[in-house]
Amino acid sequence: MKVLVVGSGGREHALALAIYKSPRCDRLYCAPGNAGTAMIAENVPIAAADIAGMVDFCLKTAIDYVVVAPDDPLALGMVDALAEKGIRAFGPDKRAAVIEGSKVFAKGLMERYGIPTARYRVYDDCVAAYNDVRTAGKYPVVIKADGLALGKGVIIAQSLGEAQDALKSIMEDKIFGASGNRVVIEEFLSGPEVSVLCFTDGKTIVPMVSSMDHKRIYDGDKGPNTGGMGTVAPNRHYTPEIAEECMRTIFRPTVEAMNSEGRTFKGCLYFGLMLTESGPKVIEYNCRFGDPETQVVLPLLQSDLLSVMEAVTDGRLQQAEVRFSPGAAACVVLASGGYPGHYEKGLEITGLQGPFDPAVTVYHAGTALRDGKVVTAGGRVLGISAVGESLPQALERAYAAAEKIAFPGRQLRTDIGRK
Ligand code: AMP
Ligand code: GLY
Repeated sequence: MKVLVVGSGGREHALALAIYKSPRCDRLYCAPGNAGTAMIAENVPIAAADIAGMVDFCLKTAIDYVVVAPDDPLALGMVDALAEKGIRAFGPDKRAAVIEGSKVFAKGLMERYGIPTARYRVYDDCVAAYNDVRTAGKYPVVIKADGLALGKGVIIAQSLGEAQDALKSIMEDKIFGASGNRVVIEEFLSGPEVSVLCFTDGKTIVPMVSSMDHKRIYDGDKGPNTGGMGTVAPNRHYTPEIAEECMRTIFRPTVEAMNSEGRTFKGCLYFGLMLTESGPKVIEYNCRFGDPETQVVLPLLQSDLLSVMEAVTDGRLQQAEVRFSPGAAACVVLASGGYPGHYEKGLEITGLQGPFDPAVTVYHAGTALRDGKVVTAGGRVLGISAVGESLPQALERAYAAAEKIAFPGRQLRTDIGRK
């Protein structure tokens, strides 16, 4: 098959590498891709959210299968547009992608179907939202922009002043654009966080190995939220008993709720969970693979990813083999200086040739090729992943490899997997 992976981050490099290894893949394309995908695929200069451009390219090149990895093309209906032209694709259609595209929809779904989550209120008026926070008088309080915001649309306010600033910047200054037309104000939950990515074709649900993201920029979970600074898998808090409970109270009810709403979800459904004292609760849904969760989940996948994806698309996931290795994986993100705020691009990256332990994979995220050199091109630049028999071994290998790679301003967390 000729396969196209849509997107350009570390997740897309990980997906592309797994598909590249599939016996079912003859030719691999990535649009727009990065310097890492360029080593295994033909990069095509089409923006990830350019639906017409992507459909055109697929028709012209006779692409057999498309993996739409990022949230925005999914929310914009890329899978629907491809299906109209008879092109098979992995990922939910537009109606199902709303589970991530609107937090108001997601909260309403959970409320209607009794799926455990934080209590919430919705506001489209800044003053009303402010009055609500002031009247409730409970801190911390969680304020979320309704729409997509690059994983940064959540602010945890510790005081009325912080809540007021957050509401003003989301709803009036529109720091997340139209995503901030409505906000969700949510009860603050605490407990270990777990990410569980599930394959589903709307009938069968197959959870992948659990993982843990590290969202804050600095060690000790300090500083602002990022897209994710590192991950480990499996997540040691996610016991078989909790997994069973999540399947019964969260995963299955969510997939069935989407069916009931006429929004059957096919693809990778990501559950961001918090294991609270009163049981597991949903923090967020994503309609796609997580980044950088994918960079620890796929290195542990022993089955052929492309075959599993096709089974999802064709509604025969029940017959697919999805096996994970019993070991552990870790991913350490190397980010640009200044991220998640303003950062410079175009800085040369050195040390990419290693040599690295064979258990290590260097996933490119925000990288580009310039005059034959690999340079920085985004906030999260590289994800250094390693597998091992144990988590400490995987972490040691990932950090040893990360040590060898340099670029000006490089930031990394030194405490991935310590919790
Ligand atoms: P999200 O973008 O929805 O994943 O939120 C980003 C991060 O904010 C999550 O990973 C949590 O650490 C935190 N968060 C979101 N919602 C809540 C909540 N209700 N209570 C506590 N922390 C939260
Ligand atoms: N790592 C969190 C996400 O992909 O949204």
